[in-house]
Amino acid sequence: MAAEKKITILKHGPYLVEGAVPLDEKIMVTNGHHREYQQGQTFKTDESYALCRCGHSENPPFCDGSHVDAGFDGTEVASTVPFDERVELFQGPALDLFDDNRCAFARFCHREDGDVWTLTEDSDNPKLREEAIKASTDCPAGRIVHHDKQDDYKEIEPELEPSISILQDPEREVSAPLYVKGNIPLVSADGTPYELRNRYALCRCGESRNKPFCDASHVNVGYVDGLPE
Ligand code: FES
Repeated sequence: MAAEKKITILKHGPYLVEGAVPLDEKIMVTNGHHREYQQGQTFKTDESYALCRCGHSENPPFCDGSHVDAGFDGTEVASTVPFDERVELFQGPALDLFDDNRCAFARFCHREDGDVWTLTEDSDNPKLREEAIKASTDCPAGRIVHHDKQDDYKEIEPELEPSISILQDPEREVSAPLYVKGNIPLVSADGTPYELRNRYALCRCGESRNKPFCDASHVNVGYVDGLPE
């Protein structure tokens, strides 16, 4: 029987993934004025595997021990305050938007009719409300979450199978973070669990200043994982 699904951060080393979590690659592309995920390759994995966190592996997306020679400092510094206490609130007529500003620069928050914040302000229009929800629920960082003012203020989260996608951003010619989906628990190197979230983006270039989460540093440093396109 497969072990419980979870990701454990190893001190100054990789992410240890347990519980036979499926792993694939998703390519982020722009179509018109919105972003989409295209399917990339699928990786064969065992019940447990280690994903590179330092950005130096010669066998991406897996760890090959290069973090040792690279002298990788993987110190975790991200806030552990719960999401709902950390967010800024943007109010609209039909939806409210919780935004924790943890940006992975994936750009799904922009749509044909505007960005997620403007669409939220215009959410009394049913079409724009749907667009706003599409923008928030596609974000791999889980940064933006709507609450439905027409339905008990329920959190609007997509149903996602537990899995991990390594992201690519060919438009910027960079490799992007790990997109973790489906409420997979994340445990710090000191053994403390992070708040359970449906979706989050983990740094894999090694340069985030908000480790273990992505802060879009892969764009600034031009991180490329070396996987064949
Ligand atoms: S974390 Fe081990 S090679 Fe990157």
